[in-house]
Amino acid sequence: MKRKINFLFLFGLMCIISSAQTTSNFSQLWLNDLDVSKIETSWGFSKANKSINGNILSVGGQSYNKGIGTHAISKLLLNVNKTAVDFNALVGVDDEANNNASIEFYVLCDKKVVFHSGLMKKGDAAQKVHVNLSGVNKLALLVTAGNDGNDNDHADWLEAYIRYSGQTPSIITTPASKPYILTPKTPDSPRINGAKITGASPNKPFLYTIAATGKRPMQFKAKNLPKGLSLDSETGIITGKVAKSGNYEVKITAQNSFGKAQRTMTIVIGENKLALTPPMGWNSWNCWGLSVSQDKVKASADAMVSSGLINHGWTYINIDDGWEASERAADGEIQINEKFTDMRALSDYIHSLGLKMGIYTSPGKLTCGGYLGSLHHEEQDADTYNKWGIDYLKYDWCSYGNEFEKTDKSHHEYMKPYITMSEALSHQSRDIVHSLCQYGMDDVWKWGGQTGQLWRTTGDITDTWESMARIGFAQYDKAQYAQPGNWNDPDMLVIGHVGWGPSLHPTRLTPDEQYTHVSLWALLAAPLLIGGDMSQMDDFTLSLLTNDEVIAINQDVLGKQARRIIQKDGKEIWVKDLEDGAKAIGLFNVGESDNVSQLFNWDGKANKTSIEISWKDLNISGKYQIRDLWTQKDIKTENAVFETEVSYHGVVLIKITPIK
Ligand code: GAL
Repeated sequence: MKRKINFLFLFGLMCIISSAQTTSNFSQLWLNDLDVSKIETSWGFSKANKSINGNILSVGGQSYNKGIGTHAISKLLLNVNKTAVDFNALVGVDDEANNNASIEFYVLCDKKVVFHSGLMKKGDAAQKVHVNLSGVNKLALLVTAGNDGNDNDHADWLEAYIRYSGQTPSIITTPASKPYILTPKTPDSPRINGAKITGASPNKPFLYTIAATGKRPMQFKAKNLPKGLSLDSETGIITGKVAKSGNYEVKITAQNSFGKAQRTMTIVIGENKLALTPPMGWNSWNCWGLSVSQDKVKASADAMVSSGLINHGWTYINIDDGWEASERAADGEIQINEKFTDMRALSDYIHSLGLKMGIYTSPGKLTCGGYLGSLHHEEQDADTYNKWGIDYLKYDWCSYGNEFEKTDKSHHEYMKPYITMSEALSHQSRDIVHSLCQYGMDDVWKWGGQTGQLWRTTGDITDTWESMARIGFAQYDKAQYAQPGNWNDPDMLVIGHVGWGPSLHPTRLTPDEQYTHVSLWALLAAPLLIGGDMSQMDDFTLSLLTNDEVIAINQDVLGKQARRIIQKDGKEIWVKDLEDGAKAIGLFNVGESDNVSQLFNWDGKANKTSIEISWKDLNISGKYQIRDLWTQKDIKTENAVFETEVSYHGVVLIKITPIK
């Protein structure tokens, strides 16, 4: 009898276990068993059985063991092969999100929306999803940001599974090309690159390194340098202080055994003349996050020189969050933490290389990373940065929100912390560029120029197409606010090895997407801040950052931001007016467009597309010389139209110059 009971018990148990995999004739696939790294996410990495931040999945106060934690915008496309039965899940905003999280979930079958959650907020109970999949070939799961940006949009697909009878459902991804280099090698003979204009305040230290490629040793000369400046003829570093305001036209020569190059550049001395072209440099955040250290910063500065980036105009070495000690000194002075030993020595070293140094803090009590911020110490901190030899300050927002909440939340209150810091910086004996980082609140582009040189227009970027493209292509309506000394900042470049912490990974952007990223940022006259680790750059990454003709578009003296003139059928055309009467034009194959069903690349193919721009679209006539900027080759002269094939998520970047 006992044996029989045991047998029955065992048999029952087996049935229960196998029913988790096969229900009658069906198999069951839990979505969390898929390779969730393939989910396209515009922030962080989607996780199996955990929230996007790695916590227990929890929606509406209830926790779940199974599911996927993701972040809007999030896209997953599956082949269900017309042999699936149904899709089941619960959806909601993860409880770890802030109160402003709001998202929408969609399920699409063969391009048709079959489930839409409507707007969901934090605290809402999970909604049940049941979708019949009979006859369905492709299933798409989508989370959108609910029209208020994707800040904090932590989204969960809970207990999500597909029942199917034939082939196991699989993820559809678009194939990516291998890295391919278009930038030609720089010649051994000298070439002078970088911005043709630079500015500084009267009587404040001036530092400018002539950016020149070509074999060393090289001899530099500068004619008509303003009084107070001197040039190191071996390094090309110009230093000193100029007392008299004015525009100085300086003739620069670089010479080596292979030849000679010349260029005239303008040194502008006057009040408010900083960042006359978009700042170019590196920032520690996208690679090291809070694990930044003095050694890593020093290694980055060394790499900017040894990789040759400095010869293309790259200048700033910016330390982001994570350098601050947990307490101020007795007199209130901000201190460095154990990962740093001496800021002044570090900046002296960076300056000796011909580079400049930046730092980060927040107007709140704490920074975004939880370190000490500048609240009630603004003047003192600016004094300290001056003493440390800092050239650039990124001023965040984060915990300042707590102070802001106590106010009437007027326009003035948004500006207040930046006015305070800008005044504190203006009292210093050195120039310090002021970079606002409050993610675009209160239309910062309309007033940021009164308090600083650049302002972030969006939340944080991450290394996915969903993030980069959404941020970059959304800048079209801010073009009018960019001008010399005032720049829209769509956040740092996510190419090379990134990681936001101690362990790095190669960017998740495909090579074509990386061309789009750099081309778009160049057209946008965006600050170019390398987010990857400069000490481990491969040839491809380096080729993206050292194309002088592409950089010249970004650094153009006119300081115009490109306008989007065409957005249609997954194609976009952007045009930037240049100082010499030419135009830079980006022809982008963005693939998907904004309509919910067109957000997916349903056939999973990296289809090239043909894009055309006519002189009529550009409101011009006559003959133009067309040059491909990435390959640095003249294509042809045309007087009506230019047409080209563009890779999926890729770009063709040209310059057209009128032929007189
Ligand atoms: C964020 C900011 C990032 C980085 C980070 C540091 O608010 O957008 O770029 O600076 O803070 O904690």
